[in-house]
Amino acid sequence: MNLIFTTTLLILLTISTLLPLNANGAKCHVDDESGLLAFKSGIKSDPTSILKTWIAGTDCCTWNGVGCLFDNKRVTSLSLSGDTENPKSFLVGTLSPLLSKLKYLDGLYLQNLLNISGPFPDFLFKLPNLKYIYIENNKLSGQIPENIGNLNQLEALSLEGNRFTGTIPSSISALTRVTQLKLGNNFLTGTIPESIKNLKNLTYLSLQGNQLSGNIPEIFTSLSNLIILELSRNKFSGKIPLSISSLSSNLRYLELGHNSLSGKIPDFLGKFKALDTLDLSKNQFSGTVPKSFANLTKIFNLDLSDNFLVDPFPSMNVKGIESLDLSRNMFHLKEIPKWVASSPIIYSLKLAHCGIKIKLDDWKPSETFFYDYIDLSGNEISGSAIGLLNKTEYLIEFRGSENLLKFDLGSLRFGNRLKVLDLSHNLVFGKVTKSVVGIEKLNVSYNHLCGEIPKNNFSASVFVGNDCLCGSPLKPCKV
Ligand SMILES: *[C@@H]1O[C@H](CO)[C@@H](O)[C@H](O)[C@H]1NC(C)=O
Ligand SMILES: *[C@@H]1O[C@H](CO)[C@@H](O)[C@H](O)[C@H]1NC(C)=O
Ligand SMILES: *[C@@H]1O[C@H](CO)[C@@H](O)[C@H](O)[C@H]1NC(C)=O
Ligand SMILES: *[C@@H]1O[C@H](CO)[C@@H](O)[C@H](O)[C@H]1NC(C)=O
Ligand SMILES: *[C@@H]1O[C@H](CO)[C@@H](O)[C@H](O)[C@H]1NC(C)=O
Ligand SMILES: *[C@@H]1O[C@H](CO)[C@@H](O)[C@H](O)[C@H]1NC(C)=O
Repeated sequence: MNLIFTTTLLILLTISTLLPLNANGAKCHVDDESGLLAFKSGIKSDPTSILKTWIAGTDCCTWNGVGCLFDNKRVTSLSLSGDTENPKSFLVGTLSPLLSKLKYLDGLYLQNLLNISGPFPDFLFKLPNLKYIYIENNKLSGQIPENIGNLNQLEALSLEGNRFTGTIPSSISALTRVTQLKLGNNFLTGTIPESIKNLKNLTYLSLQGNQLSGNIPEIFTSLSNLIILELSRNKFSGKIPLSISSLSSNLRYLELGHNSLSGKIPDFLGKFKALDTLDLSKNQFSGTVPKSFANLTKIFNLDLSDNFLVDPFPSMNVKGIESLDLSRNMFHLKEIPKWVASSPIIYSLKLAHCGIKIKLDDWKPSETFFYDYIDLSGNEISGSAIGLLNKTEYLIEFRGSENLLKFDLGSLRFGNRLKVLDLSHNLVFGKVTKSVVGIEKLNVSYNHLCGEIPKNNFSASVFVGNDCLCGSPLKPCKV
């Protein structure tokens, strides 16, 4: 009796594990499956088979990018991402409105799929559990809906890298739970709605790469949790708002580059103890750089290029800077600052048109190993670049045009990563060698070079203005 019962149970158990379609619900919910299959049928092309595991009748919880709750097997996350290294890794199509069937969806992550188009997906309003939306680097277009504020359960909203137009709806202020709001790299116009100041839990606000204009409003007093503020590449004008000073204890990234901001760089920025990256490039800032910058001991990336800043530049107490760009201001630095030369981690140094008057051989940076980019164009730098380039094995770009550099080009040695070499308008002599014409972007025009140019594919403007260079693309050498 007992034995028969056990055997029967064993048989039943075996059957139930062999047949996934049993009453215990080992398979995902029918609504979730049909919602996801509708999404798949909205995709017209999937060259790298991102959705190849999405097969009707199989458990949708096992499909690529689909995440389910453990207990009731409802789909809670949809997370598909294109591979940015592979140009064929994209999806072409639109977002099916039937994704609204995924009632338990908590996070929607559709990133770098490039060719997903259509308007802002209305089905998002029908998903009460949705907390995280990251629809990034696709081709969604049209306006961000006026009633976006109805998504007030959201904790993060990113529509970065699409083609949205129109203004930022002021109802966005109702998204009071969001910690991340990223609307960068769209075509948004108008001003920043003042009501954004209600988003007190924001740590990451990115509106960069749009066409936003007007003053940056005084909204930051209540946004003191911000860690990242990205407003670069817009059309903002006026001064840096005073209320940004409220961000002094937490802010790490302040990016205001490529706008039309003016006035002085405020002293209070020197109090930003956590600041890692400050980008004020391509604006119209004038006056001196505040002395208080000496206190920015944690700054790694500082870009003040293309403004109207004047001397004196403060001496910084930074332990190690990674990238510095002070190019094209009104500085007369005379030297490459000591706190730059002593940095053990610097990879990018751009001091074009900074009034530097040194002999390059005398510049002895403590570490040259990490240098990828050096731009010293438009200074009065004399001597030879041979010693420096010999020590920078990983250098990708060296720009030294419009200086007084004088050395034999034939003796120049460089690492095989060098892609850009601009030595135009110097006093460089000797011959153009085969290794030099192997560089992707070369310019040795207006020097004192001589002799036959090795076989190359450059235009004449790369070689003109030398003493006696000949051969293609210049005139043939006389025999
Ligand atoms: C998909 O997007 C890529 C990158 O924007 C583009 O080169 C390609 O032509 C697009 N393909 C289709 C079929 O739309
Ligand atoms: C903001 O964050 C705090 C701390 O994490 C939290 O207690 C509060 O509920 C959040 N506010 C909103 C509106 O979500
Ligand atoms: C740097 O900070 C200290 C302490 O807050 C302050 O006393 C000093 O004046 C600051 N230095 C500059 C140059 O602003
Ligand atoms: C380049 O560096 C190597 C090794 O450090 C050294 O032997 C060589 O003399 C240097 N060449 C020049 C031209 O400085
Ligand atoms: C010039 O371009 C042609 C065609 O792109 C290429 O085959 C050739 O190797 C190039 N020559 C040099 C010297 O780079
Ligand atoms: C090379 O430099 C000269 C002088 O600055 C400039 O006129 C020319 O356009 C440059 N050529 C290229 C291909 O960049």
